[in-house]
Amino acid sequence: MNTLLRIDSSLRIKDSYSRRMGDYFVKQWILKHPEGSVIERDTARKMTPHLTQQTFDAFSNENLYTEDLLLSDKLIDELYKSCEILITCPMYNYGIPSSLKAYFDLVIRTKKTFTYDHGIKGLLSDKKAHIISVMGGVHSLPGGMNPLEIHLTSILNHLGITDISYFPLEGTATSDQILKKTELIEASIFKYLN
Ligand SMILES: Cc1cc2nc3c(=O)[nH]c(=O)nc-3n(C[C@H](O)[C@H](O)[C@H](O)COP(=O)(O)O)c2cc1C
Repeated sequence: MNTLLRIDSSLRIKDSYSRRMGDYFVKQWILKHPEGSVIERDTARKMTPHLTQQTFDAFSNENLYTEDLLLSDKLIDELYKSCEILITCPMYNYGIPSSLKAYFDLVIRTKKTFTYDHGIKGLLSDKKAHIISVMGGVHSLPGGMNPLEIHLTSILNHLGITDISYFPLEGTATSDQILKKTELIEASIFKYLN
């Protein structure tokens, strides 16, 4: 069965462009995969804890335990259960939300999601990922990736995921055409999924 893991990170629960486009993506994805299931993970509504030394030490020592180690195991389990991963990501202070970074700090684990023998080998290479990135200003050069896409691509590649689609919306703070632009991105999501 096809499973989509949806990861949201906007602090805005209402009026969020990234959540709106995430909703649209999921709606279309379900139409395409009526038998599929969706796992929802929201790093803003249920704030992901920051990685601590105790938890980091517990990653590599089976005699150590923290509550966040259990959460890390659960989050990794969700990744393994999924065939596709949708990340909706606003820009905060030039980067990804800290709660989303905290999420990745908990799931990027040696021997669990990557190995490091002769270089890094990600263990999730059979997954596809989709990145919806949203920002108030315009940060990409024409035809290039924006800083959120560059960062998330590095993280996903570390996990072995190289099949990635991108849906960027830039200029939510300034453009009077933003609703039109949002609809255009939704049209590209529709085209991608159909
Ligand atoms: C705390 C905070 C920091 C932000 N920093 C930036 C920034 O560095 N660059 C930018 O272009 N927009 C910035 N923005 C604007 C958001 O990226 C923009 O409002 C975006 O639409 C948020 O996504 P959302 O609509 O899904 O909530 C910031 C917004 C907030 C709340």
